[in-house]
Order: sequence, then C-alpha cells, then structure tokens
Amino acid sequence: MNILSCDPFSPADIEHIFQLADDIQAHPEKYNHYLDGKIIATVFYEPSTRTRLSFESAVQRLGGKIISTENAKEMSSAVKGETLTDTMRVLSGYSDAIILRHYDSDASHIAAEAATIPVINAGSGIGEHPTQALLDLYTIYRKKGRLSGLKVAVVGDLAHGRTVHSLIKLLGKYDNNVVYGVSDPALDLPAEYINDFSTRNQYVAVRSLNDLPKDLDVIYQTRQQLERFKENYTNLPDFSINNDYLSTFNEDLMLMHPLPRNNEITPDCDDNPRAFYFKQAHAGIPIRMALLVYIFQ
Ligand code: CP
Repeated sequence: MNILSCDPFSPADIEHIFQLADDIQAHPEKYNHYLDGKIIATVFYEPSTRTRLSFESAVQRLGGKIISTENAKEMSSAVKGETLTDTMRVLSGYSDAIILRHYDSDASHIAAEAATIPVINAGSGIGEHPTQALLDLYTIYRKKGRLSGLKVAVVGDLAHGRTVHSLIKLLGKYDNNVVYGVSDPALDLPAEYINDFSTRNQYVAVRSLNDLPKDLDVIYQTRQQLERFKENYTNLPDFSINNDYLSTFNEDLMLMHPLPRNNEITPDCDDNPRAFYFKQAHAGIPIRMALLVYIFQ
C-alpha cells in the first residue's frame, strides 16, 4: 500500500488511523517490534526537520531500521543524471518501504509506479503532504472532538502550500465545515481544491485577518514558500499573527502551523494556550507510527 495523496482515505480509514495512533500512545510496548527485520529508506530531495526525523523516530520506535539520504538532490546519483524511476527500482531491492520528499509535485506517483515496495509521500513540490495533513487533522480531532461543523482559517501562501492542499482535501471529506482562505490574490488556493471542498462544505476567500469571525475553531497559518515563487511578488500583505491579535479569539481557538515558521507567528504567541503548533509537530510521531503500521497490516 502506498500513501501518495489524501484522496483515497475515507473517514473510516482516518478513524482507524487515529485509533491506531491512540493505541500506540496508550500501549507503546505492543508495537515495539512491529517493524522488526524491516528496513525503511528515507529519501529527501528537499530539506526537512520534522517529517524526516519524526518518520525516522517512528520507524525506530517500531523496531525497524533506517537507510537515509537527507540531501538526495546533491548527494545521491541524481547528480550523475539518474532518474527517479531508476533510483526507486534500485531502492526496492535495498529496503521494505520508501519515504520520499521531492520538489516535483508528481514525484511520489512516478516513484510508486517504479517501486515494488510501498512509497509514502513526505511532501511533493506544490502538490500534497498527506502525512502532515493527517497529523494536523488528528491534532484538531483530539482537541475539538469532531471533524464536521468546524470553522477553519487557512492563512498565507495557499497557492504553493502543500500542507494546506492536503488539509483541505481531508476537511472536505466531512460536512458543514467552513474554510476561510486568507491570502493575497496572487497566492490564492487553486480552484481545483476549492471546487472539490465546496461540494459538501463552504469556502470563503478573505483578504484581511480583521475579517475573520471570532468564533473560529482553528487558524492554520503558513509561511510564504519563497523557494517556489516563479516571480518576485511585490507588496504582499503582512498576515503575521501576534499575541495581541491571537488573544481576541475564543479561548478554545487553535493556532496551528506546519512549521517551520518565519515571522508569520511571533514568538510572543508561544505561551498562549491557543498555540498548538508544537503539540501539532509532536503528533507526527504517533501518526507516522500509525501510518507505518497501517501500510504493513
Ligand atoms: N511540516 C514540515 O513538513 O516540516 P519539515 O519541512 O521540517 O519536514
């Protein structure tokens, strides 16, 4: 089984993964040897702190072993012209699953076509980041107790933000969610994501943080993906959130961010009980452990 996109996951699949994550945290000893004898390859063509290291921690907590290239763009034989297809064929003989981050949005699908072992998309260009979205959704579910009837603001670079693309796909599987997209018109959420989401839920484009309702459940802040900009946008609005602004929302608001952050959440927010971004990052361990169990079940 591959994990390439959020598309194939049904609400029942998601509930199963969340129950696994709960059980892993409650009874870690049951899972200590789940990946005994298995070798997992982490192959990253783009930088990462959270995704690579939480996956590697998850594998080791499950008893598996890791082979890794953290800078495949410069340190693998891609430099010598090897195609992703050939690399995946070779790694299929060295390991039992491949966790792949790549700058090309189609890379994980190309990899899965070539590989004879499971491929997990750990972030693909401006496409998707499904395992991040699952840990985001898990963080929301654990706090809110529901995945329908939520009011969620997604803020920042919605054009290039693969974590937002995947999160919108997951929220769109439930009902009566309202997502407020706060962005400059140049960085709007692509229509394909809005259209799919809007079949059962509502999407509202907003141009100012001041236009957000105060009874929001979640603000999902993102960084500008400068490394993906194809032009020099001038005069992009400042959507940074500070503690004064954050404190105007209901006490049960969750401020989330996939991280890394730049200046879009100021550090004075960190001690506000509404700040969830570090708890969110830590949810990467049980969710990625659960996903590894799920693909080998
Ligand atoms: N959220 C996330 O994907 O972080 P990294 O780039 O550090 O993996």
